[in-house]
Amino acid sequence: MGERDLILVVDFGGDYTQLVARRIREAHVYCEVVPYTVTGEEIQKKKPQGLVLLGGPASVDDKAPVCDPDLLQEYPVLGIGEGMQLLVRLLGEKVTRAEQQETAAPGIPAAIFNGERLIYGAQFYLELRDTPRGQEMIENFLYDICGCRGDWTPAAFIEEQIASIRKTVGSSRVVGALSGGVDSTVAATLVHRAIGDQLTCIFVDHGLLRKGEREQVTKIFQEKLGVNTITVDARERFLTKLSGVTDPEKKRKIIGHEFIRVFEEEASGLGDFEFLLQGTIYPDVIESGTSATGVVKSHHNVGGLPDDMRLRLLEPLRLLFKDEVRLIGQELGLSEDLVWRQPFPGPGLAVRVLGEVTEEKLDLVRDADYILREEIRRAGLDREIWQYFAALLPVRSVGVVDGERTYAHPIVLRAVTSEDAMTAGWARLPYDLLERIANRILGDVPGINRVTYDITPKPPGTIEWE
Ligand code: XMP
Repeated sequence: MGERDLILVVDFGGDYTQLVARRIREAHVYCEVVPYTVTGEEIQKKKPQGLVLLGGPASVDDKAPVCDPDLLQEYPVLGIGEGMQLLVRLLGEKVTRAEQQETAAPGIPAAIFNGERLIYGAQFYLELRDTPRGQEMIENFLYDICGCRGDWTPAAFIEEQIASIRKTVGSSRVVGALSGGVDSTVAATLVHRAIGDQLTCIFVDHGLLRKGEREQVTKIFQEKLGVNTITVDARERFLTKLSGVTDPEKKRKIIGHEFIRVFEEEASGLGDFEFLLQGTIYPDVIESGTSATGVVKSHHNVGGLPDDMRLRLLEPLRLLFKDEVRLIGQELGLSEDLVWRQPFPGPGLAVRVLGEVTEEKLDLVRDADYILREEIRRAGLDREIWQYFAALLPVRSVGVVDGERTYAHPIVLRAVTSEDAMTAGWARLPYDLLERIANRILGDVPGINRVTYDITPKPPGTIEWE
């Protein structure tokens, strides 16, 4: 990793861990999230310039988890939110003085003194963009107190990763699954830059893709980026496996499993590979392990790998947040529309056709989704909105066309704003845009006789419907 700035975010199970980590990275300082069970020795090995303690609601009661208080002797420490109270508790009688300052909530100290040393804390919540001093305070801590240089940049990351990929891979071959999403595209481009033709990408068309997606992805990879890419038509195979299955988690598991099987079969026909490239990013890593939170949905790029898989994993983006992946993509010269593509779930349209997935239903959702995407792009809103798509409900309702009764499926339009997909709000699409979308869908997609707009935030909803 070289002698780069490093801040460790010690996670006591709060909700804001990712957010704080991102704020630190936004200040061009690299940081990693570690669980509170980390030992002094582990921390020493990483040689951080400073620690940030982040508590959860549990930190304030006496049975809350604690870390080794010795950690606090060696490094500059910033406690944020409940992390501040945690500090007061950890230090106990060693606190020689506590001062109330501007950023503090009533009754909570903003600065505490451990002997002669000052430990910093802030009882405020960084998720509020309108906490004006939040970012400023983080930057003061990073630059003035920890002496960080701000050396975390896309160019530095790329250079470092290329060297590390070359070293790890040597003369072996790498096989990668391509989904066409931002993460797998950036990962493949980065690895291709490092090892060229030692990389082969496999693009599995599981029949759950959006309209035009397969053509678009193969074109970009083969023609534009010059990456060895193999396209597999596995549409029938997936549909057969999914036939009669209605349970969302079952659908996800089937797709995840089948995907790996198809992929392995294809790869084994291509000779020997030692590494499997995955576009795993930091939120997946944090969500599936470092923190105390449970699994909400089984994301198939992390959870579903069979135990008997013999390939070693290559995950060059595993320490990056989504916005950082985009910056890396831009730095690698990928086009705007590739870099700014909205997230698309691995199980594809299967989680947007509620209940049983059939060819006919996939076609309906595909056509409606295409219209929605086209209109949003035309309205110039595609950058502002985090994700927008159509989902098909497994019920039918009555309608009327030219005096004839219809009995067909409703489509749900979903458009959300978000920063990281952990929380989301519904996008305030203009009425006339909604009207245009609805009219086109109702006119051009036979089989849909009703269009609804989903105004559920996350939580309590999720972004996807399954
Ligand atoms: P939810 O629906 O949980 O989705 O609010 C959060 C974000 O994750 C995407 N998503 C997935 N991405 N594999 C993925 O790679 C999956 O299985 C999966 N499920 C949901 C979703 O589109 C949203 O951006």
